Amino acid sequence: MAEKFHRATLSRNFLKTITRIKNPDEMLAESGGLEKTLGVWDLIILGIGAIIGSGIFAVVGIAAAGNADGSALGAGPALVISMVIAAIACIFSALCYSEFATMIPVAGGAYTYTFATLGEFAAWMVGWVLMLEYAIGFIAVACAWSNHFVQFLAGFENILPAWLAHPPAWLVNDVFSASKIASENPDAFFPVICGIPVCINLPAIAIVLLMTAVLVKGTKDSAKMAGLMVFIKLAVIALFVIAGAFFVKPENWTPFAVNGAEGIFAGAFLIFFAYIGFDALATAAEECKNPQKDLPVGIIGSLIITTIVYVLVALVLTGLQDTSSAVPLAFLKAPMAYCMSLYNMNWAAGLISIGSLAGLTSVLLVLEMAATRILYAMSRDHFISKRFQKLHPKYKTPALLTWTVGILAVIGILTLNLDVAAELCNYGTFTSFIIVCVAVLILRKTDPDRPRPFKVPFSPVTPILGIICCGGLMIYKSMQPSGSALLFPVWLGFGAMIYLLYGFVKNRLNENKIHNEIVERKKQEMMKL
Ligand code: ALA
Repeated sequence: MAEKFHRATLSRNFLKTITRIKNPDEMLAESGGLEKTLGVWDLIILGIGAIIGSGIFAVVGIAAAGNADGSALGAGPALVISMVIAAIACIFSALCYSEFATMIPVAGGAYTYTFATLGEFAAWMVGWVLMLEYAIGFIAVACAWSNHFVQFLAGFENILPAWLAHPPAWLVNDVFSASKIASENPDAFFPVICGIPVCINLPAIAIVLLMTAVLVKGTKDSAKMAGLMVFIKLAVIALFVIAGAFFVKPENWTPFAVNGAEGIFAGAFLIFFAYIGFDALATAAEECKNPQKDLPVGIIGSLIITTIVYVLVALVLTGLQDTSSAVPLAFLKAPMAYCMSLYNMNWAAGLISIGSLAGLTSVLLVLEMAATRILYAMSRDHFISKRFQKLHPKYKTPALLTWTVGILAVIGILTLNLDVAAELCNYGTFTSFIIVCVAVLILRKTDPDRPRPFKVPFSPVTPILGIICCGGLMIYKSMQPSGSALLFPVWLGFGAMIYLLYGFVKNRLNENKIHNEIVERKKQEMMKL
């Protein structure tokens, strides 16, 4: 009986400990280490910088391709509806992010909000899942950047030496792509060690190290660089829309929804990737000059601007190319550039290649920044070593942490299967969006009087719609058998194990330390008396 009671008490204590909530006031009191440099325009630029990337420059072709014979399941000209559906799903979450970001403007984004509402264990798990979105997303986009860069070099084959215009496959691919290339083309050369092809994807590694160095140099400098990239990518997209509008054939817009509602939702699921990134702004809340006013404008403003851009691109793209029957492979890989070449505007196709490189570069910058800011917040909460909180003496950025993320990304580039990585990135994003919507509902109940400079309109309807939209898309994807649908629960299980074996223990040791310090201080005060 006594043993039973003891066990029940133990498990109650354990549950109490892992659902321990961190008070938002405590979070605000601990914050302030990072330099406050970001204004509203920096935020909008960082937002657009994070959002517009490989989604609109590549994935959009796959989302559009619809063929009634079942060989392509995309939306066809109804892509524009898919764009709007994906944007609506994001807007609900963006409103929830804005409420939190203005209420608790500290580094960490969804991780921080979860700690304030669902407790320690859930916060750790969200931090762990966010690594899928930001760190694994960072690796996937770095490899997409490498592909675009190689294509870009090939465009200069008349000027560049052959080894540079067409670099050896083992220098520009990951090991999984290399295996595919080797099986299709037995003549392709790969150095082999112990039966495994050796590949080092040099452009991807180089861009990761470059982005890491830029981020260490400073957030303001990173925002400036993102600004230049955003300008270039918006300029080339504007060029595409304006030049392409003259060649649109309205007959390409019929049949409008070639695969019906199914095609539209399949397109919405795929194109959701193109909207990922606005949430990264919330992770930089601590570096905003005026987070209460500027963050909602930055988050929602960048999302609205990109939605308008995406809708225009979708209209022109599907007007230039018939997407209701089989489309060429080149359209699937780089749809905008392909359409420009189709109408004999090779110069515009070249400029679009440059724009896509710029687009991917700014996405990389913001994804890496977000990954480091979440880990920074986790280190503050004793989940990972305190050493990572050390700021660079001159640039005031978490340099050790940023380099650690950079080096881990290089290891990921050398070892991961990138198709699966990109899908896992979507899973991480859906989960974090859902959790933030849930957290808004909880904090409204548990802490209703806390000042909320920005309030989600029509709550609880808006957060619930956010949960339904993101949850629906996630369930839709999980029902299709894929490597990522299996790996996601594995990732969660692995995260829970690390928490129990490391994060939980480390937090308790820290609590003991604090307790002992308090006891010691009290003893000394008593002795003085
Ligand atoms: N939204 C980002 C992109 O499209 C992740 O690349």
